[in-house]
Amino acid sequence: MIIGRKKDHLRICIERDVQAGDTGLGRYRLIYRELPEIDYDEIDTSTSFLGAQLKYPLIIEAMTGGSPEGGVINKCLAKLAQKYGLGFGVGSQRAAIEDSSLNEYFQVRDVAPDIFLVANLGAVQLNYGFGISECKKAVKMIKADALALHVNPLQEAIQPEGNRNFKNLIDKINKIASKLNKPLIVKAVGSGLTYNIAEKLQVSAFDTAGVGGTCWSIIEGCRGGKSTRELSEIFRGFGIPTAECIGTITHTDKPLIASGGIRSGLDVAKTLSLGADVAGIALPLLKAYNREGEKGVIEHLERIFTELRISMFLTGSNKIKELDGKIEFLG
Ligand SMILES: Cc1cc2nc3c(=O)[nH]c(=O)nc-3n(C[C@H](O)[C@H](O)[C@H](O)COP(=O)(O)O)c2cc1C
Repeated sequence: MIIGRKKDHLRICIERDVQAGDTGLGRYRLIYRELPEIDYDEIDTSTSFLGAQLKYPLIIEAMTGGSPEGGVINKCLAKLAQKYGLGFGVGSQRAAIEDSSLNEYFQVRDVAPDIFLVANLGAVQLNYGFGISECKKAVKMIKADALALHVNPLQEAIQPEGNRNFKNLIDKINKIASKLNKPLIVKAVGSGLTYNIAEKLQVSAFDTAGVGGTCWSIIEGCRGGKSTRELSEIFRGFGIPTAECIGTITHTDKPLIASGGIRSGLDVAKTLSLGADVAGIALPLLKAYNREGEKGVIEHLERIFTELRISMFLTGSNKIKELDGKIEFLG
């Protein structure tokens, strides 16, 4: 059942327009340095995140795994993460924890031995029988460097078969963080995450996945019947815009992935200027893969790298850290 649902998600994301809302990044402008006084060819886009070295401040975000099709997509994306020195996250491993025959469709280390690799489970599963042993299994299964626990109350609320008991999860997540022996990231999936909750979580890092990108209300609406569709329309784009998430979570002083509607290298640069450490992208890479396979993903990534470099050039930033604060709010 989980695998069937995951296949539906991929198909819907490929075929339909599943984006909603506004990231809020359009209301910010990078501060232009008319005479950059740096050499474009010397710009260094490398950075580090949770102890890993990245050649670009970019994570290919969790999307799939657990089925032959998902396994092939993951291998392609992970291989490109290796080629370009990016981070990479697999989709929820719940199905493979419950049925170990699916493990093989999450494996990417054969094509991506050195990448910063993030395992993935739903935080709500901590109320449905999962605990530290399943979290450790997810990490070990793919030889991951970190685990992301995703929080998706909107999706679970709209999904007819959703798991909706979100009681006491802050406490449970904190207990997992203290026992995992790997960095724990708490990640949203399209409705955002802010300081209000982040400050209560004793985890290693956060991932915003804010409003302005992939919207799970729409996706679940496309899967369901008339009443689910109507419900999903009401909550289309519900949550906190990505720019707002970044602005508040930076107050935790913890490493931050900015995701949710990041669609260009200029967006990446803006999120870093606002205080994020790296940016994350999901849906556009799936669409590029579906259109033109590996070639499509390469073209998409390389366009983002060029746009980031130009953004750094035009703000006189030789290094990623130099982007910090070079942004103004337009109101
Ligand atoms: C097809 C698809 C499947 C996803 N599956 C997961 C998942 O299993 N676990 C998770 O944490 N996030 C999942 N996400 C959320 C993404 O990792 C990402 O945080 C979110 O889509 C925002 O990025 P975007 O606007 O660039 O798509 C999925 C996104 C897509 C498009």
